[in-house]
Amino acid sequence: MRNSNNAVVYYHFFASHKPVAGKIVNDSMKWYGLAERRAGASLVSMATIGIIGAGKIGSQLARLAVKNGHRVVIANSREPATLSGLVAELGPNARAATATEAGAAGEIVVVTVPLKNYRAIPVEPLAGKVVIDTNNYYPQRDGHILELDNESSTTAELLQAHLPTSKVVKAFNHIYAAALTVEGQPAGSKNRRALVIAGDDQAAKATVSRLIDQFGFDVVDAGPLKEGWRIQRDTPGYGPRRNAADLRRDLAAAKRYADQ
Ligand SMILES: NC(=O)c1ccc[n+]([C@@H]2O[C@H](COP(=O)([O-])OP(=O)(O)OC[C@H]3O[C@@H](n4cnc5c(N)ncnc54)[C@H](OP(=O)(O)O)[C@@H]3O)[C@@H](O)[C@H]2O)c1
Repeated sequence: MRNSNNAVVYYHFFASHKPVAGKIVNDSMKWYGLAERRAGASLVSMATIGIIGAGKIGSQLARLAVKNGHRVVIANSREPATLSGLVAELGPNARAATATEAGAAGEIVVVTVPLKNYRAIPVEPLAGKVVIDTNNYYPQRDGHILELDNESSTTAELLQAHLPTSKVVKAFNHIYAAALTVEGQPAGSKNRRALVIAGDDQAAKATVSRLIDQFGFDVVDAGPLKEGWRIQRDTPGYGPRRNAADLRRDLAAAKRYADQ
């Protein structure tokens, strides 16, 4: 949706559940939960994006990042040489590294590993940085995590607790990896797919919002990290293609596991 200045408007889930035009405060766009940009203006200028996890989601986000002019430093749990095929596909703006190196190199860092491994993410190299958390909880894969079973916490809050000096933003957790590179559309496209963010740092959310928009999707802000449960596995918005209005409805309709 665009406002009267032809600027793309992101949506905040709370308050009215209606889209509200944001206002540009400065480049960091600190107004609570909202961000907008002027049509055609640059979104996130060339950045180095560190990606920890090079599987289905990590490799797809790497493709989108390179396509949009960013540099990528990507890691898996093994030797960087095991990523030579992916790096060759990504081209000269990508290189493989260890997780620590990818974290250190990234201005924005994506953590996209099986949740059971989140405590292995290096802390110090990510200090002060925007960290995107794509992770979901599958007990059959991740083992049981008490705070998630009893719903006293969320996946992104666990990562934030592990990375206390980073600014964690939940994003890209409810879209299938394959859809990332085929469902993006230019800003302003009719019925454009929307993706949810959640986070406690407004500037970090604005940065991630711009990146998501650049990658081809509208953004719906679910609020703080603790609201990330509204887009967790088995909620209405988890998986299907939704535009911003429908996704806001899905967030509102989400039920805790205990109430399902
Ligand atoms: N697949 C989807 O469509 C999808 C969609 C949204 C969200 N997610 C979530 O996003 C996360 C990643 O999913 P995925 O499907 O991309 O997983 P995946 O295909 O299994 O890939 C996982 C990647 O994480 C790496 N890894 C594991 N432990 C690591 C560590 N300690 N340090 C560095 N790298 C490590 C793995 O490296 P190795 O190969 O060396 O083991 C692999 O590259 C999961 O939490 C998942 O639930 C997945």
